[in-house]
Amino acid sequence: MNATDRKLRKLHVVTHGCQMNVYDSARMADVLRPLGYTTVDSPEDADMVIMNTCHIRERAEEKVFSALGRLRVLKEEKGGEMMIAVTGCVAQAEGELITKRAPFVDLVVGPQAYHRLPELIAQAHRKQGAVIDTEFPAEQKFDHLPDAAAPQGVVSFLSIQEGCDKFCSFCVVPYTRGAESSRPVASVLAEARRMVAGGAREIALLGQNVNAYHGEGPDGKIWSLTRLMAEMAEIEALARIRYTTSHPNDMADELILAHRDNPKLMPFLHLPVQSGSDKILQAMNRKHKADDFRRIVEKLRAARPDIALSSDFIVGHPGETDADFAATMALVRETGFALAYSFTYSPRPGTPAAGLPQIAEDVKNARLYELQAELRRQQDDFNASTVGLTTPVLFTGTGRYAGQIAGRSLYLQPVVVEHPTALTGEVREVKITHANPNSILGTLISKEQIAA
Ligand code: SAH
Ligand code: SF4
Ligand code: F3S
Repeated sequence: MNATDRKLRKLHVVTHGCQMNVYDSARMADVLRPLGYTTVDSPEDADMVIMNTCHIRERAEEKVFSALGRLRVLKEEKGGEMMIAVTGCVAQAEGELITKRAPFVDLVVGPQAYHRLPELIAQAHRKQGAVIDTEFPAEQKFDHLPDAAAPQGVVSFLSIQEGCDKFCSFCVVPYTRGAESSRPVASVLAEARRMVAGGAREIALLGQNVNAYHGEGPDGKIWSLTRLMAEMAEIEALARIRYTTSHPNDMADELILAHRDNPKLMPFLHLPVQSGSDKILQAMNRKHKADDFRRIVEKLRAARPDIALSSDFIVGHPGETDADFAATMALVRETGFALAYSFTYSPRPGTPAAGLPQIAEDVKNARLYELQAELRRQQDDFNASTVGLTTPVLFTGTGRYAGQIAGRSLYLQPVVVEHPTALTGEVREVKITHANPNSILGTLISKEQIAA
């Protein structure tokens, strides 16, 4: 890009999908900031729009094309003076096909190529027709992204591991994010320290299989997630550590014990199990049985009795009978979840399960309805069980109404408290007084009250 191109430009980023995409979107803005791009809240004001996309289920993909349809109209209204980039997992999975369906798209960039964005944008300015980069380059993108990241806030997300080698029968991630790879410890710790210096009090470590983390340590040895988090706990102003998403097969004993031994690790774990039927778990290529999950939960609860669990479920995977679904319901009832996400199986092109005979939509929907009713009940029960507790809350900002401040509990519950002044970034003891479906209410407890 030449000097005259380096004028002030306005960037609008739309993010779909998981937290890793949220993190990546922020990093793309970081890459473009030195080129003069500032972020704006609406596409109407933007010279460039990045759509960071998700491919996980069919509906996620449909969302991309309908959103692109709206951007096309906007681009026409601006006489073509708006660059449109599609990034993320749909970009990786569909590449050139996107520009066939949406020829007004200027750039298609896969998740491993974000550090090349400046060069790709320059190419797109020069070129007639779209620029496409969906390679998995040899260099790690994180090593080539700028250090100067904009602060994310009190709660910050940090990607430490990308990709997946597990190849579950239903899942596109191994194809869109590539092979599993871990960032080196030093680069993770340096970023964590920068985040904390910028105001972060809670850091959530991210990876598709974050508990498979095995990064190179400064001592030349391979560090586990447990060791990494022990080192992070030494960062004084950091109050809370979380990690997501984990796979049951990588739930090492030392990691389970870290929930007891690492004082900053939160008593909350998102551990997707997908199904309670051994037959379906096998068909899903999950490589563990329902009882393995039960044993992990037992160990977690032994190590940290107040731990709360969250999970993901898929209903209607090919081959799932009523009895298989009943096994899922039994596992859910037995375990008790504080939170959970559940989906009907969505066949994804190129994945093994997509080629198998499919379960009828109405059967899938009926199962989802039943499962979600149970999960909703469990979430309400969990929230109700916290009423009366005095528990630390990390305040993140103001509430929806005047005079309210908001934060989150140890268990990721949104907490609202009446208080005249902001306590953003502070951890305070709160007595929970009331549980609503999507948030809990409480009152601040003073140090004197705690002592009494
Ligand atoms: N890496 C994580 C999560 C990946 S995607 C893990 O291993 O669990 C997040 C969730 O989306 C998955 O846990 C799964 O429940 C759901 N999901 C993935 N592919 C899906 C598909 N084809 N249809 C429906 N749900 C799916
Ligand atoms: Fe997808 Fe399975 Fe890998 Fe999770 S572990 S990202 S569900 S292939
Ligand atoms: Fe979606 Fe890709 Fe994340 S498919 S869930 S954005 S890794």
